[in-house]
Amino acid sequence: GLTGRNIGWVLERTLPSTVRNILRQAGQIADRMGFKVYAAGGLVRDVLLGHENLDIDLVVEGDGILLALELGRAYNAKVRQHHQFGTAEVVFSDDFKIDVATARVEFYAYPAALPQVESSTLHQDLYRRDFTINAMAVALNEDSFGNLVDFFDGREDLQNHIVRVLHNLSFIEDPTRILRAIRFEQRYGFKIEPQTLKFLNESVRRGVLAKVSNDRLWDELKHILAETEAEGMLRRMEELGVWAYIFPRVNYWEVEPVLKDLPRSIRQISDWGMMVPSSGWLVYFIAVLHWSDAEIARENCAKYNLSKRQTEKVLAALKGWSSTVALIWKAPRHVKVSQLAKALLQMPRESYPMLLAILEEDELKERFRELLNIIKDSKPRINGKYIKQLGYRPGPVYREALDALWRERLDGNLRTEEDEQAFVRDYLARLTKRSE
Ligand code: CTP
Repeated sequence: GLTGRNIGWVLERTLPSTVRNILRQAGQIADRMGFKVYAAGGLVRDVLLGHENLDIDLVVEGDGILLALELGRAYNAKVRQHHQFGTAEVVFSDDFKIDVATARVEFYAYPAALPQVESSTLHQDLYRRDFTINAMAVALNEDSFGNLVDFFDGREDLQNHIVRVLHNLSFIEDPTRILRAIRFEQRYGFKIEPQTLKFLNESVRRGVLAKVSNDRLWDELKHILAETEAEGMLRRMEELGVWAYIFPRVNYWEVEPVLKDLPRSIRQISDWGMMVPSSGWLVYFIAVLHWSDAEIARENCAKYNLSKRQTEKVLAALKGWSSTVALIWKAPRHVKVSQLAKALLQMPRESYPMLLAILEEDELKERFRELLNIIKDSKPRINGKYIKQLGYRPGPVYREALDALWRERLDGNLRTEEDEQAFVRDYLARLTKRSE
């Protein structure tokens, strides 16, 4: 393997200074404690590709939990310890955490005199990983800072755009790696290496995906559906015989045309400055299921344990898309614009990219854009804060009341903010009476 190359300058160039400081700090702490520490996995891969990656995954030869505690102390950050795994999380903020793991020690002890003992624990840790491009590490200790550890020629595979497993049982040991191979292949425009592809095909044929828990599948699927290249990943799932395990009883070919157009539609809607849906994955999930029977859609939602509200969105989109599209089609001659906008407001926002994809002709797309603008212009002046002041507990009623308000505004009935407040108060009073 290629070791000893220093990529300190690449870290310097690619990572923000806060992250760089944490890496240096971890190295200095390790020095004081007599440990060795490395950053491993996705960060090394992405930094070598010239991409930023703020997912720091530290591997410690020594005691990972002790190092995490010291690091937490240095930054006044909370540390979550998992003693059974020898791992810890340093929590800097809600969306910035660092994983620290202790490199696995072998079952048998090496003779103390052998110099490779220490690095062999790192070797074992990296060998347990999915692909060569994810199995590199970079040293953080002061005197070796930036040294690349690359036992499996990951850097070469990265340069040659290749996804390659480390050993022939990789997909058997962890079948979710089948999805990960597809994800990295499509995300970076790489190729799955022929031998790896053979292993992948064999394990799919043997049905290993049927043995994975839905929770674990969802972890990977959610990742996939939130990627810019999700469409290509879904197509690969079909090509490689994976689709049927992921979306049982859903026919890929029926939804393919819409999926193909989805990336463009998502971009368009965000270019227009319109509501970008909060859960990107739901946009794809809805599009995947839009042609299915409600029963099959429900099954797929249940498989991945979607919340009641998310399931409702999927079913509402399923039920409403064809009539909404038909309305837009007939407009403007036979339908009032406010009617149309109201119909659209009743559809989940996450279905808008799909609707736009189904409206193939430019003229219809333009009409859709006008509708979105009208909706935007009549956005209510009050929001959830007002409802909260009224003393209602946050929940689905908020959205329901605000959407009703929105529709009322489209009809031009509410002139002032006071009008809006009165409408919402009334609406909520009626709504809560209804549910008693
Ligand atoms: N990993 C693995 N097998 C899995 C999941 C993860 O070997 N089934 C390893 C990989 O080495 C990976 C690391 O754990 O680099 C961290 O996993 P994760 O954060 O899921 O992936 P990243 O590589 O960081 O990818 P992303 O950029 O999508 O977060």
